[in-house]
Amino acid sequence: MRIAIPKEIHQGEKRVAATPQTVLRLCKMGFEVAVQAGAGLNTDLTDSAYQEAGATIVEDVKSLWSSAGVVLKVRPPQTGGIGTLGVDETELFAPGSLLISFVWPTQNRDLLEKLAAKRITALAMDCVPRITRAQKMDALSAMANIAGYRSVIEAAQHFPRFFTGQMTAAGKIDPAKVLVIGAGVAGLAAIGAARALGAIVRAFDPRAATRDQVKSMGAEYLELNVQEEAEGKGGYAKEMSDSFLKAEMALFAAQAMEVDVIITTALIPGKPAPKLITAGMVESMKPGSVIVDLAAEQGGNCAMTRPGEVVSHKGVTIVGYTDLPSRVASLSSQLYGATVAALLEEVWKDNAISIDEKDPVVRGAMVTHDGRITWPPPPLPIPTPVAPPEPGVAANTTKADLSAQIGNGAAPASASSLWIWILLSVLLCLGIARIAPPSFLSHFTVFVLACFVGWQVIWNVKPALHTPLMSVTNAISGIILIGGMLQVSGPPTSAAAILGAIAVLIATINVAGGFLVTQRMLAMFRRNA
Ligand code: NAI
Repeated sequence: MRIAIPKEIHQGEKRVAATPQTVLRLCKMGFEVAVQAGAGLNTDLTDSAYQEAGATIVEDVKSLWSSAGVVLKVRPPQTGGIGTLGVDETELFAPGSLLISFVWPTQNRDLLEKLAAKRITALAMDCVPRITRAQKMDALSAMANIAGYRSVIEAAQHFPRFFTGQMTAAGKIDPAKVLVIGAGVAGLAAIGAARALGAIVRAFDPRAATRDQVKSMGAEYLELNVQEEAEGKGGYAKEMSDSFLKAEMALFAAQAMEVDVIITTALIPGKPAPKLITAGMVESMKPGSVIVDLAAEQGGNCAMTRPGEVVSHKGVTIVGYTDLPSRVASLSSQLYGATVAALLEEVWKDNAISIDEKDPVVRGAMVTHDGRITWPPPPLPIPTPVAPPEPGVAANTTKADLSAQIGNGAAPASASSLWIWILLSVLLCLGIARIAPPSFLSHFTVFVLACFVGWQVIWNVKPALHTPLMSVTNAISGIILIGGMLQVSGPPTSAAAILGAIAVLIATINVAGGFLVTQRMLAMFRRNA
């Protein structure tokens, strides 16, 4: 099957949906890849680099689109005949083909109708659900991470001083103070970049989970006395009450007079951005200060933001760029291309496109299929009750993933078979109780209860707490090690000594494995010397 990679025609868009690296991956999957001539020139990717990776370069745009079963794009197909082609991109598709790109279905209803009319199956990268299994397909997070970094670079470019503090012979230079509003993906990336440049960073986000994340990035978390639960669905925030917004704006008004740079990323998906920085707050900032408003495209968090522009008001620069990832085009293309390839892998089975509507990732991303508009998708299944993990299921697989796997074919145990198992277990225990000596029985009761309680405790731990859980299991393994060693000291052929030796072996594997995993995780946070 042929994949087409057209050149993006949206004005100013420099990204491309595949790089030579991802073309290699697509070819390995069994696709024939055709790239429009000059598609990567804005990211310094030459046609010959694509050819070396196995792609064919096609000059004629219309034949590129019409000969492909799959089209990979960054921006949604442009409708209405604007752009360099002067045609509606939706008219170029071969009927029934697959499109993977950003689609933004809320804002682009007419695009959905046109795609459905052409029987295009469209997978929207912006609709991939935020569940653990879909992390490698999370283009929004990949782009927000780049946008967060770039926002600091933009701020540093407009800021008339250093970000870092210095003590020089000519005098002391104070470090810049940076306030980051909203500590989602972009906010945390901005905190990291601003800290790396040496600034003093403060941050605020209404979701309680962000407090530790902000602190772990080396920033100060600003506290608000008003308590309100902000956690919404799928790791996003929910809309805050007016009283909460008033309280946080009072906090920002006080901060605006003190800080040099404000980076705002506050957003509730599908809603206009909350207005958090008023014109009065802008005017209260020191001359030379900079605001970078990442939410500009959704109306902006700052009242004075002009989307896509840089404006200056009483000495304060307000950056409202809506194309920050495109300003780091080669990295953005590489990461975006990797997420697109990962999503394509989900629907590429036995050398054919196979859309499994029971797969929550595919269903969540699918906005048109078979001539229908399929957006919005049904809500993700509530992840309880969950079947116990099968051997081979990764230890950190979340309940949502498991329910997704169950939805993919592995039938959950029915209620009646569960009751049969419970009944059989009870009968087995009663049988053992009848024949076993009383001393064995008391140990056996403790053993059964420990298995049951341990199972319940571990199974209900949130994925975010798996690392502390690993420490706890290591501690338990330590206790088992000591117990096993005491038993091993008995006669070598006794059952207790053999069981003790097995316990020592298994617990040692767990402890050593725990240390190895911890080392790998710590290495991810260490900077290269
Ligand atoms: P996210 O959903 O991960 O983070 C948004 C954060 O805002 C959440 O942590 C949420 O709790 C917080 N928030 C919501 N209401 C708030 C309030 N009233 N006060 C303070 N914080 C609040 O989103 P992500 O991926 O980090 O993106 C952030 C923004 O950056 C979005 O507006 C997104 O559209 C934008 N973006 C802009 C780009 C550009 O080129 N300008 C490129 C990529 C993303």
